[in-house]
Amino acid sequence: MKSIEWIGGKVRFIDQTKLPTEEIFIETDDLAVLSDAIRTLKIRGAPALGVAAAYGIVLATQHLRTETLQELSDAVDRSASQIAHTRPTARNLFWALERMRSVCRLNTQESATQIHQRLLDEALAIHTEDREMCAAIGMYGAEVVPDPAVILTHCNTGALATGGEGTAQSIITTAFDQGKKISVYVDETRPLLQGARLTTWELQKKGIPVTLITDNTAAFVMARKKVDLVVVGADRIAANGDVVNKVGTYNVAIIAKEHGVPFYVAAPTSTIDLGSEHGGLIPIEERDPIEVTEGFGRRTAPEGTNVYSPAFDVTPHPLITAIVTERGILRPPFFDSIRSGLRRGNEGAV
Ligand code: MRU
Repeated sequence: MKSIEWIGGKVRFIDQTKLPTEEIFIETDDLAVLSDAIRTLKIRGAPALGVAAAYGIVLATQHLRTETLQELSDAVDRSASQIAHTRPTARNLFWALERMRSVCRLNTQESATQIHQRLLDEALAIHTEDREMCAAIGMYGAEVVPDPAVILTHCNTGALATGGEGTAQSIITTAFDQGKKISVYVDETRPLLQGARLTTWELQKKGIPVTLITDNTAAFVMARKKVDLVVVGADRIAANGDVVNKVGTYNVAIIAKEHGVPFYVAAPTSTIDLGSEHGGLIPIEERDPIEVTEGFGRRTAPEGTNVYSPAFDVTPHPLITAIVTERGILRPPFFDSIRSGLRRGNEGAV
């Protein structure tokens, strides 16, 4: 399933807020519409945000008739700044914007027409690379999945969240496609229910046995049932291996440690932020309280209730067994393996 694509000068994407009951696609050539879609989680998931951000730059500049390269470069910067203000946490969004900006910076001798083409090519390359990274993550990650395997996951990390077949979810589907007997516990993922609405929808479509649990059931499941591994995605990974992911991931990691269950994180290297020494330095988005008190239209707390709603949390690196990237599986000590992983090609375990 293509959750986002570039078609004839427009971006086409599935409105994830309508799932699982309605499959509605939106097509736009307007950066304001795309930015709003990111802000409201119609498009969501770190790698998909990177792809959307890149296409957003093309949307904003494709019809601009500029006299000079400087004017085009200024327009790219302005649209990048607009997109950068949509959501603050996913590294992939900023990584993609930086790649788009560098197209102007690195090709100063070219005409504006050539740069327009280069911007589109770069956005399409970011999308293609993301698809390939998802496939490689699936391949490397499937190696750590036993047969049979009971897997627990949190949030949504599938085709909806990426430009390809997913990160953590690509590991699940690749192992399944290899013929392994897989079943998955999916955390509902409060408050926006990415697990309940999106992950179950995607896994069911693939015919993978899935059991939905409320977030607070994970400990009991690990105590009473056999869970072989946890696998989750990431929105940003700090230089020391601390992982920022959907709020509740930290809880799952603690519970997994307590029960001796391996805890894997899957993400492309575009999610890694060497500029953040540790997770405490990563900006954590706070969402509108209404998503907690009136999620999906029903009031569940009294008017005026004080709410704290971070969209993400930080899982400290000692709780993480390994990080699966498109360049292989990175193991502790992450400070070293992340650096050597970034230096190497797609060669496997580090
Ligand atoms: O707020 P969201 O739905 O964009 O958060 C998404 C997540 O936390 C995912 O786990 C993460 O982006 C990895 S997606 C492959």
